[in-house]
Amino acid sequence: MAPISLLTIVLMPLLALAMPTVIPETATSAETPGNILACTGENFTGECQTHSLGIEIPGDCRPIPDPFKFNVGSIKPDRGAICRLFATDRSDCTGSGLAILYYPGNANLFTDLGGNIPGKEAAFWRCQECTNCT
Ligand SMILES: *[C@@H]1O[C@H](CO)[C@@H](O)[C@H](O)[C@H]1NC(C)=O
Repeated sequence: MAPISLLTIVLMPLLALAMPTVIPETATSAETPGNILACTGENFTGECQTHSLGIEIPGDCRPIPDPFKFNVGSIKPDRGAICRLFATDRSDCTGSGLAILYYPGNANLFTDLGGNIPGKEAAFWRCQECTNCT
């Protein structure tokens, strides 16, 4: 009897501590609108980084940082935003862009999409809030 009570007393605070650390991790992995996971390789391989872009309409138009500029194999925007990639001649992020991306993203941007290879041409990106996309 005594060992069970002792175990309960020891474990309860540990469980209470463990719970909150699990929940935010899930939330940030796919639920932060404006976060965009970029990888140099297809299928989310190679070097990967998460970038945060402001998504309030019209959204931040930002240069794609190295090593992803002209070399982004896959992108996964978090839910709640729609993102577009733009070539060097669209440094203001106008037009429809090279690719339109929303959760769960595109695993192969080195594929020809309508006459261009987005992952090899993209130099700017912009995300905008989106309530209907996913
Ligand atoms: C990415 O995944 C697809 C589907 O599983 C596969 O056909 C393709 O070869 C993969 N590409 C790379 C570069 O691993």
